[in-house]
Amino acid sequence: MTAMSDREIVSALKYVSRMKPSFMLSELRDYTKDEVSTADVYRIVEPLLDETGLRAVPEGEDYRIERLPKPAPLALGKEELERVQTFFKAPRVPRKLERLIENYVERKTHRQYDDPAVLEKLRQAVQAQKTQYWKEGKARKIDYSSGYSVLGYLAYQFPVYFVQFQHVLHDLATDGLLKDRIKVLDIGTGPGTVPLAIVDYYNRLDRAEATVYSLEKYDENIEAYLTLVPEYAGQKGRVRIEKPVKADLMEKPPVPDGIDLMVFSNVLNEIDAPFDAKVDAVVELASHLAPDGNIVIIEPADKENSTRMRRLVRRLLDKGLGIYSPCAFIWCDKCKADMCWSFEEKDDIQPTGLMKKLADTEESYKYLNTDIKFSYAILRKDTLTREKYRVPRRASYMRLAMLKKHVEKRLNVVAAVMSGDLGDKKDHVFKICDGTPAGPTYAMLAQYNVKPDNEALLKAKYGDVLEFENVLVRYNKENDSINLLVSKGSIVSPAGAEENEE
Ligand SMILES: C[S@@+](CC[C@H](N)C(=O)[O-])C[C@H]1O[C@@H](n2cnc3c(N)ncnc32)[C@H](O)[C@@H]1O
Repeated sequence: MTAMSDREIVSALKYVSRMKPSFMLSELRDYTKDEVSTADVYRIVEPLLDETGLRAVPEGEDYRIERLPKPAPLALGKEELERVQTFFKAPRVPRKLERLIENYVERKTHRQYDDPAVLEKLRQAVQAQKTQYWKEGKARKIDYSSGYSVLGYLAYQFPVYFVQFQHVLHDLATDGLLKDRIKVLDIGTGPGTVPLAIVDYYNRLDRAEATVYSLEKYDENIEAYLTLVPEYAGQKGRVRIEKPVKADLMEKPPVPDGIDLMVFSNVLNEIDAPFDAKVDAVVELASHLAPDGNIVIIEPADKENSTRMRRLVRRLLDKGLGIYSPCAFIWCDKCKADMCWSFEEKDDIQPTGLMKKLADTEESYKYLNTDIKFSYAILRKDTLTREKYRVPRRASYMRLAMLKKHVEKRLNVVAAVMSGDLGDKKDHVFKICDGTPAGPTYAMLAQYNVKPDNEALLKAKYGDVLEFENVLVRYNKENDSINLLVSKGSIVSPAGAEENEE
């Protein structure tokens, strides 16, 4: 095979695809003098298919080349939904992927993955990462240049982030934000957490397709990615995995245009760069987003990282991006977000076999990582928002920003639920927000006050907007926060429910 035959095949692909809506790949062999096999032809044309608007459908030893249909909105069928819900009932890293990770640990360490010496080094790597994570300012240096840092990440952080991203993806799908064929760009992909989550989620769907591009700074992560992701995606799967690009996201990396889903999962907080430089980097990357594409930013739920992310997102809104969720600017004003600490929670995952072995030690709690708590934002170039409700003019609701002037009064507010239940069995506590520049505000409902008229508070999902009628305003001096007491005489209902009924 020569460079000449490569060129001949490529120009034949372009020529024949203009002439015929569909043809067999092997036909292209006639357009070069060299002896080439169908497999050779596939290797040459495969990287070009997407950009030329074509796809190769396997037919025996050959492929049928056909024009890609225009992507349509992805709507999950009943069986697809059931499969996803079954997964979320006991979410875990599938055994096949666990085994790939164990094999990778063995390949890198030249020992059994559960050799006591390997497990001890993994524990040390997990502890070293946690120590770095909790450092502040310049002292905080998180890097993945050593093999064990990546292996420790795969053992401890990966399983939770893998399931967590599937929740985000499922919410995007059920909100109608995905198409049946999408282009994904995962920035700071690490060992391929997000691509692996996409492959796993798409394994439960019948026909959706995705092409996944990714960026990563460290070679050790890229090595892990190349070992795990293509193998898990399979040869002819519906998720096409492009080779990760080694690049620094802060340095205008080369990325494809027309991205439908751009993901920053647990990456921006780790970058040692000024706040404004991070904002500019995201804005620059957002220029590669399709007009109706989505950017997902995810960060850990701890106060420092969560509040920093909200400030970053707030600045991105000033720079012209729109927010789809979770924030609902129901008064049509934008918030201040100086100290907004809000995160979503999901059910715990099942620990992997490797995690259980790590935790088989005196301080096992240090190595078990199963709870899902994360802060996120979905940003877009347009003005689409998940929450369509806006406070009607002349409505008798008090803005949360005004509540300090009405302490000890009973009144009505409308606000989104921005936390899981932060209380206990006796007292339910939820953070709420109406997008006005208010300090921390909580809705509190004692268990003995729960009744059908107010239990909508307990049933609300993260981000749902509720109307609260006849709630008592209390000021908590210690925390400088407002508590709204929901009592037996209070009514809590989904916002706009009455208008929807009319
Ligand atoms: C905590 S890991 C997250 C990995 C993956 N996204 C996940 O959610 O599991 C952060 C990743 O960002 C990468 N990273 C950090 N700084 C980066 C930069 N400036 N450019 C590209 N990648 C970077 C790290 O190497 C690491 O793989």
